[in-house]
Amino acid sequence: MFITFEGIEGTGKTTQIQNIKKYFESRGKEVFLTMEPGGSRVGRELRKMLLHVDNKDLTPLTELFLYLADRAQHVAQVIRPELEAGKVVLCDRFADSTIVYQGYGRGLDTTMLQQLNEAAVAGLWPDLTIILDIDPEVGLKRATDRNIEEGKAMDEGRFEAEHISFHKRIREGYLTWAALNRDRIRVADASSSPNDVFERIKTIIEARFFATG
Ligand code: TMP
Repeated sequence: MFITFEGIEGTGKTTQIQNIKKYFESRGKEVFLTMEPGGSRVGRELRKMLLHVDNKDLTPLTELFLYLADRAQHVAQVIRPELEAGKVVLCDRFADSTIVYQGYGRGLDTTMLQQLNEAAVAGLWPDLTIILDIDPEVGLKRATDRNIEEGKAMDEGRFEAEHISFHKRIREGYLTWAALNRDRIRVADASSSPNDVFERIKTIIEARFFATG
């Protein structure tokens, strides 16, 4: 079972992924948590490059190829082996982030991005993708506060430093992309309490994997 989580900055993805991990473990499953960018050894180096605020001069294409390199390495070295070992893999961001950030956000052609994603994932698509949806003003404030609190404003703040209009395009992009991929992608409202959001995600997972009758 391979499940990916998506959304703009500050949706509470990290907290929810932890909750879902506990949920699967309580059902006797072994869970492997991972993320993009930075889910492999080489990927952690790429993550530093991709997210540092000093690297504002990355061109959209350079940025794209770094994310794809991170993904190719992550799938081959981490995700595929963990799935083959029988684990449930939960991943914080995956190929849909490329479509939405580099496509709807930066303006690169989404058909080209989908082809490049196909090459990077080498046939390994998620069984389910959950988009946590929230108003960008709320999400951005949460993400910026968190970066400051954790002392990561410079190291990881390149996207948070983007104008609010960029984040609005990302949110709309996610909703458009979800509507085009209804078989795999579900949207969960992430504006209420963490507990409510968890219940929503759990309902989606149960309907997808454990529905009876
Ligand atoms: P995060 O791990 O804190 O969510 O930060 C990752 C950032 O990288 C986030 O702003 C989204 C961005 N991103 C892309 O632009 N394209 C991608 O393919 C991925 C995986 C992430």
